[in-house]
Amino acid sequence: ALKLAIIGGGSTYTPELIDGFARLRDTLPIGELVLVDPAADRLELIGGLARRIFAKQGHGAVVTTTTDIEAGVADADAVLLQLRVGGQAARNQDETWPLECGCVGQETTGAGGLAKALRTVPVVLDIAEKVRRANPDAWIVDFTNPVGIVTRALREAGHKAVGLCNVAIGFQRRFAKHLGVDPELVRLDHVGLNHLSWERGVTLLDAPGAAGGREVLPELLAGFGKEIADDIRLPQRVVERLGVVPSYYLRYFYQHDLVVEELKVKGSRAAEVAEIERQLLELYADPALDTKPELLDRRGGAFYSEAAVQLIAALLGTGGGTSVQVVNTRNDGVLPFLPDDAVIEVPAEVDAAGVRPLPQRPLEPLYAGLVAAVTSYEHLALDAALRGGRDRVFDALLAHPLVGQIELADRLTDRLLAHNREHLAWA
Ligand code: G6P
Ligand code: MN
Repeated sequence: ALKLAIIGGGSTYTPELIDGFARLRDTLPIGELVLVDPAADRLELIGGLARRIFAKQGHGAVVTTTTDIEAGVADADAVLLQLRVGGQAARNQDETWPLECGCVGQETTGAGGLAKALRTVPVVLDIAEKVRRANPDAWIVDFTNPVGIVTRALREAGHKAVGLCNVAIGFQRRFAKHLGVDPELVRLDHVGLNHLSWERGVTLLDAPGAAGGREVLPELLAGFGKEIADDIRLPQRVVERLGVVPSYYLRYFYQHDLVVEELKVKGSRAAEVAEIERQLLELYADPALDTKPELLDRRGGAFYSEAAVQLIAALLGTGGGTSVQVVNTRNDGVLPFLPDDAVIEVPAEVDAAGVRPLPQRPLEPLYAGLVAAVTSYEHLALDAALRGGRDRVFDALLAHPLVGQIELADRLTDRLLAHNREHLAWA
């Protein structure tokens, strides 16, 4: 039986994973699950609920908890990273100070996302080193944001890692609903970077995993243009004319100034999430609760557990052969205008032999320019995270297509450093 470790297992998201592990136990037969977290009180709470969910669903897996990473990852077949350095309080800052400079305040996009990368990369690399020492064969699945930069950090350090996000599976599920078919019959022609992606096609398969199939994106847009555009919060006429579906993170680029105006008068998402988490923790403490509460659906992590189960099952060879899944992995020539070591988000063949990104047709100039610019920013962001220094932070911001100007990059750099000193060893 498999052993899985979840770093950040004390997260309020964990019951979402547990629920998926229980429902999909035939795909991924877990024998032991270790929740690892620095917060012992959270571990007790989440661990208790995890055991009740498993028991209720008749799942025999043992759930253990520990604050000790080395002990937690020992003998693990796969390690899932879902941590948040500084918690929602740090996120709240990322979402707030960029607005003072007229820039989007967001946890993964723009200057706030850079702050998150700087705080997170050293912590994740330290954990990955412990995983490698404990078990060099273990797969690291990174859900920790910013997933593109964190995955690139892991891969450049030689770790056996793959990055995961729920944007693609979210589109797959929604398109399947519109089409009235099983999600397994929907294959996405998904391309770009993490949180900077487009669906260029949607294939309806004859059977799960079958070759061929029929392109249905034009009919999806014709029949459900309004629903799809509302979902990603972009103007319907633009989406229909482009004939592709941008992820909702593209709104931070395509409607940047509009979003800034909205965010200035709205409370932060971090504050909203903190309140949801407060209520969730109250619910989790109820010894009678043995299911994932509905309130968890108000978080952005829908289908996270399905995506994680599919990916880990394929990597560990319990999922039945090779499957195609959208993941974050090394470019290696798939998008020829990007360096090989860039991390891209595309469909890949996944099995026990690893992750092989599928070839892509040339990316149209409308998208390729943005992808190239953000890839350069990610390269510089990683450099700043690894080596520190004000200049490197400034350079990453200057390269970011949403910043790009010296005075703005200076003001953002000052604020980023002022708000993050306690998390940055070098600052
Ligand atoms: C989606 C994204 C994640 C992100 C989450 C935020 O799931 O893919 O990368 O962390 O939304 O959700 P939240 O509930 O924390 O705002
Ligand atoms: Mn994501």
